[in-house]
Amino acid sequence: MSIDFGNDIYEEPLVAKTFLQEDAQEGSLRPRTLADYIGQEKAKENLAVFIEAAKRRQEALDHVLLHGPPGLGKTTLAGIIAQEMGSGIRITSGPAIEKPGDLAALLTNLNEGDILFVDEIHRLNRSVEEILYPAMEDYALDIIVGKGPSANSIRLDLPKFTLIGATTRAGQLSAPLRDRFGVTLRLELYTPEELARIVTRSAGILDVNIVPSGAYEIARRSRGTPRIANRMLRRVRDFAQVKADGVITETVADEALCALEIDHLGLDPVDRRMLHAIIENYRGGPVGLETLAATIGEESVTLEDVYEPYLMQLGFLTRTPRGRCVTRKAYAHLGLSVPGDDPEMEQLRI
Ligand code: ADE
Repeated sequence: MSIDFGNDIYEEPLVAKTFLQEDAQEGSLRPRTLADYIGQEKAKENLAVFIEAAKRRQEALDHVLLHGPPGLGKTTLAGIIAQEMGSGIRITSGPAIEKPGDLAALLTNLNEGDILFVDEIHRLNRSVEEILYPAMEDYALDIIVGKGPSANSIRLDLPKFTLIGATTRAGQLSAPLRDRFGVTLRLELYTPEELARIVTRSAGILDVNIVPSGAYEIARRSRGTPRIANRMLRRVRDFAQVKADGVITETVADEALCALEIDHLGLDPVDRRMLHAIIENYRGGPVGLETLAATIGEESVTLEDVYEPYLMQLGFLTRTPRGRCVTRKAYAHLGLSVPGDDPEMEQLRI
């Protein structure tokens, strides 16, 4: 899909890091209860216990930190927690809260038991973060009144609320903030089987005709990520409507995804450029992340958050203290031979 921003047309990659316009309409595809939420079994199991316990005690749920790669359903899960707790939810993000006053306004407008969801919580600035400490720990807001020697601090009580923080980079959270979350859940990439169930469920909601092998083909090429699987489903549906009889079969899905340059394991042109760059420019690595990003003209955070988790899960890429290295499996996938394995090279070496 492309969006027209005036004169320039930007192609939206299927692997786009952030929410696309289309994802915003995805509301209908989002599961609303834990029972409807597919995958993340461990996180779900634990959450169900914490939710039930908090409900029985008639208390707010302890603060929850959700971390893991983008597109795995952190916002969805926050919505489900609110639904299961029967509480209201306010959604914001780290960069959107610019000043301590912005956060104070959000906090004072919450009702008892409400959830405040802060996406990209690692991007909160320090002065805002400091307001959050007493808010999380004591449900209190410390306000400084006046200036200089006559300045005074007054404490305002806040309703008992639950902060749900989401981040792709738990390592970037300051220790004091991290320590104030009672529950930390790491979301993992989904298996193809789980994604096939998600695709089948979404197809049902979108009224798209799909056969099980078609759903599986989309699933195994969507790099462990429901958001990508749902985007692919929409694109493959377009192909099915225009080039086939509207039914998504394995062949239709394969042809559509090949046309979109998504290979059989779900690698897109950026993944392939990344692997080729390491192999061709840095002899398979190690190469530093910043150098690699500059070589292929992408941002290093995008490579780290969006591309590397899946390449590492496939066993195509390793992170070493000296930089990124490509594995033998990646050479094989790209149809290249590993230099040291080349019999002619071996002879030259002797
Ligand atoms: N849509 C996106 N993520 C989902 C999930 N985990 N379960 C069901 N549907 C989804």
